[in-house]
Amino acid sequence: MKVMVIGGGGREHAIVKALKKSPDIDTLYCLPGNGGIAADAICVAVDAKHIPGMVAFAKENSIDFAVVAPDDPLVLGAVDALTEAGIPCFGPDKKAAIIEGSKVFSKNLMKKYGIPTAAYETFSDIESACRYIETLTAPVVVKADGLALGKGVIIAESLEEAKEAVREMMGDKKFGDSGLNVVIEEFLTGPEVSVLAFTDGNVVKPMVSSMDHKRAHDGDEGLNTGGMGTIAPNPYYTAEVAQRCMDEIFLPTIAAMNAEGRTFKGCLYFGLMITPNGPKVIEYNCRFGDPETQVVLPLLESDLFTIMRAVSEGKLAETEVKFSAGAACCVVMASDGYPLSYKKGFEITYDEGLEAEVYIAGAKLDGEKLLTNGGRVLGVVATADNLAEAVKKSYANVEKVHFENAYYRKDIGKRALEA
Ligand code: AMP
Ligand code: GLY
Repeated sequence: MKVMVIGGGGREHAIVKALKKSPDIDTLYCLPGNGGIAADAICVAVDAKHIPGMVAFAKENSIDFAVVAPDDPLVLGAVDALTEAGIPCFGPDKKAAIIEGSKVFSKNLMKKYGIPTAAYETFSDIESACRYIETLTAPVVVKADGLALGKGVIIAESLEEAKEAVREMMGDKKFGDSGLNVVIEEFLTGPEVSVLAFTDGNVVKPMVSSMDHKRAHDGDEGLNTGGMGTIAPNPYYTAEVAQRCMDEIFLPTIAAMNAEGRTFKGCLYFGLMITPNGPKVIEYNCRFGDPETQVVLPLLESDLFTIMRAVSEGKLAETEVKFSAGAACCVVMASDGYPLSYKKGFEITYDEGLEAEVYIAGAKLDGEKLLTNGGRVLGVVATADNLAEAVKKSYANVEKVHFENAYYRKDIGKRALEA
């Protein structure tokens, strides 16, 4: 079969590498892919947000199945357009992708169906939002309604800072139309857990849990980034917590989306916080996480393509989703300066004897050479029988990957190992 993956980062590289193992796939395309993905799939220069472009490519090349990985095309309706063109897809349609596309929607959904989340109010004008902030005690969390590249969340340490964040989002339009509406919510505490789950709208099959490391610097200091590393499984996600999440969050969410006429099919990402009052939802994403996918898929023992087709056909109940008992660690190597400004265009080289997967996020080919071409450049992923070994092995292999200006956190997995 001919399969195309939409997207072009480290997550898509991990998806491509996992799909490549499937005996049912003859040709694998990635739109647009990147210089590193080009080693594993045929990369086609169609932007991931250019829906007519991907539909035209799929038709012209008789694509049998499409995997839409990033949030933007999902929220814009890529799955609807491809489905209409007769191409089966993995991913939610536009109606369901709103669970990530609008925080106002997802918060109201949770309130309506009693799914545990931080207490909140939503606002569409600055005055009411600021008046409400006056009634709170800091810290206060301010979130832009729409997609904002993971940057639309401000943890304000004072009420003044919270009001400033509201003015920036709603008045100065710092996040464009994404900030026309805001959510103001209670600050929660506790360890964070990411759970990606396959669902076809009937059943939900969670993948191995993981932990992201969002801040730029060691010790969770510095600016928020797209993610500087991940580990799986997450030690805070005990069997007891997992059962509570299934009963109180996962199943109720699937049922709520069905009740709203917005059946979700694809990978639903639960960003959870394990608070002293039990697990609560911090956010939903309508897609695989990045860089969570880079540690989750290497532990998947079942065939990813078989699962994706089952999700698309509503047959997930009878399909095996099995993970190994081992652990994985992903250390992201970024361009120094990320997430602000950074230089790119440096050659990436590897020493011999690399014992890890390298998923390329931001690189381009220049002849035979692979050059850095983004903030997050690549993820070095090792798997092992246990987390301590996986972390050690990842860092040993990071030493074997070279490019000028490389920066990475030295403490990925530290908190998990201390847990
Ligand atoms: P989000 O984009 O919604 O995942 O938020 C980004 C990060 O902000 C999360 O991973 C949390 O670390 C933090 N965060 C978001 N909401 C809250 C909250 N209500 N309380 C505490 N931290 C939060
Ligand atoms: N790693 C967080 C995300 O994918 O949104």
